[in-house]
Amino acid sequence: MHAIGVDIGGTKIAAGVVDDDGVIVAQTRRDTDPDDVASIDAAIADVYRELSASYEVREVGLAAAGFVAADRSGVLFAPNIAWREYPLRDRVAALIGDPAVKIVVENDANAAGWAEFRYGVARDVSDMVMLTLGTGLGGAIVTHGRLVRGAWGVAAEIGHMRVVPGGHYCGCGHEGCWEQYVSGSALVRNAQAAAVTQPERAVRLIELAGGRADKITGPLVTQCAQEGDPLATELLGDVARWVGEGAATVAALLDPEMFVLGGGVSAAGDLLLAPARNAYAEQLSARGHRPEAAIVVASMGNDAGMVGAADLARV
Ligand code: BGC
Ligand code: NA
Ligand code: ZN
Repeated sequence: MHAIGVDIGGTKIAAGVVDDDGVIVAQTRRDTDPDDVASIDAAIADVYRELSASYEVREVGLAAAGFVAADRSGVLFAPNIAWREYPLRDRVAALIGDPAVKIVVENDANAAGWAEFRYGVARDVSDMVMLTLGTGLGGAIVTHGRLVRGAWGVAAEIGHMRVVPGGHYCGCGHEGCWEQYVSGSALVRNAQAAAVTQPERAVRLIELAGGRADKITGPLVTQCAQEGDPLATELLGDVARWVGEGAATVAALLDPEMFVLGGGVSAAGDLLLAPARNAYAEQLSARGHRPEAAIVVASMGNDAGMVGAADLARV
């Protein structure tokens, strides 16, 4: 049976029809405005209409970038989207207008982590932590083969662990959250700042951005680093160091067998992995006296959120 999975990020939604084996058989996308939550509802209903025209679908999973309620009905709070106690399921259901369709809301990173655990790079592992590096930093925890949800549904909001007292402001209202150091947004903020403060080292980066520091994006930093540019490599290395150090702290709590890195920034591959593994090793307590988690890049790329959301909608 087919289910639809919708991945709702800060600026776009991606939707796919997913079969029982986690394979996407059709997909589509829309740009959205994170400040206009009604437009997100409308876009979801629109992709549903498009996809359900060719496939019979009874379940829709919505992967949302925010704190999702335990009953999977909506979003309590989102740092980077204007959702506050938002009844996403019911709003979308009203637009779709078919009571036979079951709609569930899941956290986006939980959905992505679930997909990697079921079908991706972590399929042979029973204890894993997923980190999604995108607009924010998302997390998913699988322990003994089960997604950890916490008492109120909002476990694994890992991006809001404080790593720097008095550090950068976060969309959640606090300072120094891990997400401010490990995310696409952090990478871009640091790259744009470096282009201003170290213009002589940022020549290639600024050139790739069409001469404008404020047009530097995450993928451009990665491209530049892949060309061997020292500044871009350093910028990715900084993010990676925070990945590894934070992961060592997470290991103190959860002792996972594997950390899976996903989201846009993970496209940097070894440029991210090598320094992340080094920082992890340096910071891990009892190192040498305990088995060490693998740190790997996700294998399902941008599809993970859709596949995981569709899969979780079936249960
Ligand atoms: C949000 C999470 C989300 C993550 C990735 C964070 O800022 O708090 O709910 O999973 O970003 O989108
Ligand atoms: Na999560
Ligand atoms: Zn925060």
